[in-house]
Amino acid sequence: MEHLINSNVKDIEISGIRKFFNLVAKYDDVLSLTIGQPDFPTPTHVKEAGKAAIEMNKTVYTPNAGIPELRKAATEFVTKKYKMDYDPETELIVSIGASQGIDIAFRTILEPETEVILPGPVYPGYEPIIKLCGAIPVHIDTRETGFQLTADLIEKNITEKTRCIILPYPSNPTGAALPETELRKIADLLQDKDIFILSDEIYSELVFEGKHQSIATLPGMREKTIVINGVSKSHSMTGWRIGLVFGPEYVMKQMLKVHQYNVSCASSVSQYAALQALTTGINDAEDMKVQYQERMNYVYGRLGEMGLEVVKPSGAFYLFPSIEKYKMKSFDFALKLVEEAGVAVVPGSAFSELGEGYVRLSYAYDMQTLEKAMDRMERFLKNL
Ligand SMILES: Cc1ncc(COP(=O)(O)O)c(C=O)c1O
Repeated sequence: MEHLINSNVKDIEISGIRKFFNLVAKYDDVLSLTIGQPDFPTPTHVKEAGKAAIEMNKTVYTPNAGIPELRKAATEFVTKKYKMDYDPETELIVSIGASQGIDIAFRTILEPETEVILPGPVYPGYEPIIKLCGAIPVHIDTRETGFQLTADLIEKNITEKTRCIILPYPSNPTGAALPETELRKIADLLQDKDIFILSDEIYSELVFEGKHQSIATLPGMREKTIVINGVSKSHSMTGWRIGLVFGPEYVMKQMLKVHQYNVSCASSVSQYAALQALTTGINDAEDMKVQYQERMNYVYGRLGEMGLEVVKPSGAFYLFPSIEKYKMKSFDFALKLVEEAGVAVVPGSAFSELGEGYVRLSYAYDMQTLEKAMDRMERFLKNL
C-alpha cells in the first residue's frame, strides 16, 4: 500500500547533515566537526530548575501557549536584549524547539502553490515543511553577496504568489548576518506588500560584533513578521526542546490552533528550565560566545592559511569554506576527508544545491579537537 502514502512526504529526503553524520559513525578515530549543537553543558542552575520542577510535580499539561511565567520572561528577554515588544498573553507561543515553531508557522500561513523565498545555501529545516504544505521553495543565490539575502535579490524574485520570505540570520551554515542598512532596505521594500517574513533568530545571542537586530523592530515590519527563537543554541539546551515563536496577535491566535492540535504544549519540565535560563541566566550566552569567537578566529585563520576561500562569520558557530578549486562534489570531498584524514565535515550540498562546492565546519568543539582537526585537514589538502 506504499502508493497510498502522501506523495509530498515521499518526495522529501532525510537531512543531508544527519545522513553524513550516520555515515561517518562507522569510521574509527574521526574528529567530527559536523553537528550544530553547543559543546557546553546546559548551565547548572538551569538543570537544577528542571530537576526542581520534577520534584515539585510540575509534570502536567501546561497552557497551550506555555506557562505564563515563561511567556512573561521570554517577552521581557527580547525587549531587554533586542528592543522587541510583544504581549506575553497573545503574541508568543512556546514551541518544541525552534523546529516545531517553524512547522506551525508555515502551516498557519502557507497554502498550496504559494511561494516562499529563501536564501541559498540555507539550513535544511525549511524546505521539507514548505513542500509538505504544498508550497514552493524559491532559493535565491546569495553566493555573490557574502551569503546575504539583499533587498535587490528579494525584489527580483517576488511574484504574485510570494507568501513569505525567510530571513535566517545569523545563518546556519554560513555564519553570515544582515547589517542594519540591509534590513532597512528590505523593510522599505516590503513595507507596502502583503508578504510575511519568517525571521529565524535562533542564533541571536551568538552575534560577535555589536548587537543582533530583528527586522520586526523596523517600521511596519512587526505586523508581518513571525520571529523564531529559543534556548537551544543560546543556553546549550538542544535536548530540552524549547523554542519561542513571536508574532502579531492576528497570526498567533490562528497558529495556536495548529500548535494545540499538534502537541498540546511543550514539555512542562523544560519550560521551567527555560524560565530559569531566560531570567537568572539572561546573560549565560556571553561566556560561550567569547569562546566561540576565539575558536572561529582560530579556524578561520587556519583555513585561510590552507588557501581556502571563506567568508568571515558574524555569528553562530559555523564556517563555510569553498572547495570549488578541487573540482570535486562536496559529498565526495567530505567522504575523502573522512576516509583519508579522519575529519568529518558536512557536504555543502546538504544546504540546497547552492551549497554545492562548499563544506560546513562546526566549531562548537573544544580547541584541542579543532587544532587536531585543522592539522589533519592541512596535511590532507597538501596531498590533494
Ligand atoms: C537556523 C536554525 N533554525 C532552527 C534550528 C532548530 O532549532 P531547535 O533545536 O531549537 O529545534 C536550527 C538547528 O540547528 C537552526 O540551525
